[in-house]
Amino acid sequence: MKFNLLFSGLFASVLTLTSFNEAFATNVDYRVIPMPQKIEVVENQKPFTLNKKSVIRYTKGNDKLKKDAEFLSSYIKEVIGLKLSVKAGNASTGINLIVDNKIDNKEGYIIDVNSSSITIKGGSEAGVFYGIQTLRKSLTPGISKSVEMPAAHIEDYPRFAYRGAHLDVSRHFFPADSVKKFIDMLALHNVNRFHWHLSDDQGWRIEIKSRPELITKGSERKETVIGHNSGKYDGKPYGGFYTQEQAKDIVKYAAERNITVIPEIDMPGHMQAALAAYPELGCTGGPYDIWTIWGVSDNVLCAGNDATLKFIDDVLGEIVQMFPSEYIHVGGDECPKDQWKVCPKCQARIKQLGIVSDEKHTAEEKLQSYIISHAEKFLNSKGRQIIGWDEILEGGLAPNATVMSWRGEGGGIEAAKQGHDVIMSPNTYLYFDYYQTKDKENEPYAIGGYLPVETVYNYEPMPKSLTKEEQKFIKGVQANLWTEYIPTYSQVEYMELPRLAALSEVQWSNPENKDYKDFLSRLVRYIELYKVKGYNYATHIFDVFADFTPNTDSGKLDITLSTIDDSPIYYTLDGTDPTEKSNLYQSVLNIDKDCTFKAVSIRKGVKSRTVTENIGMSKASMKPITMRQPINKQYEYKGAVTLVDGLKGNGNYKTGRWIAFYKNDLEAIIDLTKEEEISKVDFTTCVEKGDWVFDARSAEILLSDDGNVFKTVAEENYPEMNESDRNGLYNHTISFPAEKAKFVKIKIAPEHKIPEWHGGKGNNGFLFIDEIEIN
Ligand code: ACM
Ligand code: ZN
Repeated sequence: MKFNLLFSGLFASVLTLTSFNEAFATNVDYRVIPMPQKIEVVENQKPFTLNKKSVIRYTKGNDKLKKDAEFLSSYIKEVIGLKLSVKAGNASTGINLIVDNKIDNKEGYIIDVNSSSITIKGGSEAGVFYGIQTLRKSLTPGISKSVEMPAAHIEDYPRFAYRGAHLDVSRHFFPADSVKKFIDMLALHNVNRFHWHLSDDQGWRIEIKSRPELITKGSERKETVIGHNSGKYDGKPYGGFYTQEQAKDIVKYAAERNITVIPEIDMPGHMQAALAAYPELGCTGGPYDIWTIWGVSDNVLCAGNDATLKFIDDVLGEIVQMFPSEYIHVGGDECPKDQWKVCPKCQARIKQLGIVSDEKHTAEEKLQSYIISHAEKFLNSKGRQIIGWDEILEGGLAPNATVMSWRGEGGGIEAAKQGHDVIMSPNTYLYFDYYQTKDKENEPYAIGGYLPVETVYNYEPMPKSLTKEEQKFIKGVQANLWTEYIPTYSQVEYMELPRLAALSEVQWSNPENKDYKDFLSRLVRYIELYKVKGYNYATHIFDVFADFTPNTDSGKLDITLSTIDDSPIYYTLDGTDPTEKSNLYQSVLNIDKDCTFKAVSIRKGVKSRTVTENIGMSKASMKPITMRQPINKQYEYKGAVTLVDGLKGNGNYKTGRWIAFYKNDLEAIIDLTKEEEISKVDFTTCVEKGDWVFDARSAEILLSDDGNVFKTVAEENYPEMNESDRNGLYNHTISFPAEKAKFVKIKIAPEHKIPEWHGGKGNNGFLFIDEIEIN
């Protein structure tokens, strides 16, 4: 077991593994999510009996602790139906909440459970709050008059001080009550920063009294595009906003749950809704509509107009009154500079400031830094600090800025090297608007990507390329939820859960204590609490996990099936949908024929989603294969055997069904293990031009009897791709006069020079191949 179970010889004798398991065989388990740093089970102590006589006590006069006590009482009522009373003063019995200044970490806590009492001591009231969260999560949901809490000593504290979650309320709006539900969900996961993205091109969402038209003209768009900018619109006006009173109420609500609200006013880009209200702030003067499509608008604040600076001051002046947070987010991402390049006012500003481009930054990038630095100066004068997306590095960082790294980790690494604080929020690991399964057809429509729970869980925010000193600038981790394709709050929950549980261990747990399998075993239980809360969580982790491994010794495809909770798995090989009457999976399946494989797990009559694979055999399937040139490391997955495993990929090249070649050719030798007559080789490429992934440029087939001397039997060339060519799958069939051979060499060349029309022109492209079929 990976978690940190410490055996204390001083206060308790050591438990054997058996008695440890027995101790946790009650309906209480302190191994919650996030996993506490240290749990000691105390032997020779009777458990604490939690029943209606247990009183929750807090230090008299401490209103925050009183609030904590009320939270604990309401949580226990919610989970097991017991209503405990709350009293001031401390006692030697019952549950006692205490602030203990000797605990270093303000958010840290110690829980001691013995037969007469439970004591939760926190480094501050926030620490007590996290102790309460752990206690709450240790109970198994279900009505209970009396619960035995095993005697234990728990010590815990967070790894990162900044543990964030972001919500975009511009693309879709979620009313104040939903925002409170979101905050409750964050509290359950020990998140302590709520990053509230309040303005964007598609709608301004926060009342600014000195700028009333932000709401009257900037909060309701005419209609919304359908899908991924399809050109079709729903024809329905869409809007919503928060009053200042509502915002302040949410700040208070969050603070009670030890969550700081960090508002974001995204500038100078993502401002089209503000421009619809105040067109004079744009370079062209408008008129502008609130944007009805998704993407990055060219309409941005004019950086040469003094009125823009006044606007920023007016808005931020009211923002700081609503939001007491030390940090205010000023955006800074995705600000196209096209209009600034031709705007007389912007160009005059560049001249006036004496800005000149250099080899690192254009004049316009530096002009963006001027705007961000202006916002920073204003906020610093109010005693506040700024956070910005990593683009704020591009024209030179404002002096005190914290950088939120979203385009991967590069921006965060660069900022830390420059001595700036960093929040890691890379899209590759922490954009919860991405799909959480490969099975997109059965998912609510999403922006794209593929980010399963496991990928989130395995994220390590501390870049190895930084020195120990530089690593100190990595202050925290945050997941983001952009809501272009998330129209309802219920779908917000679906996209967040259970990825938020994985995030909470990235944010809270020390890396040496992390273990995905152990996490999953705890997650099964944790999800019972999601059910109590009525959350709309995603259930993919309960689906059948299928591993397909080609066995070149037996020439068969080995399929191993499992589930997170060892539920029974049923499968078919004839394409029919499995039921409880189908084959029950017992041990590894060995497949050597074409078939359609389907599997489900069934819990209390409820089926998981179906895993489906079409397995297609050729003379190359499960045969020994060696690569003569390397596979690209980033997309190597299971390596060369992927090409002969009988499994095809779909249009997503990141699923593991495809492997990539970059700079060098695919050059493989397949040993057919006996002489075979062959006349055809098939392969498919997956093209995604925007990601520098292109079709093959040539292929060559060579045959040999001994694996040493090869003879070319077919060669083909493929054209350079055009800008208008579609993405997706490209099938190639190479036929030649039938010939006998034992070894087949296949050479396939990627695009070595990306065409002129492409942003990556002149560079190497990637080649993705899923399977080589020989017949
Ligand atoms: C971002 O995702 N544009 C910060
Ligand atoms: Zn301008």
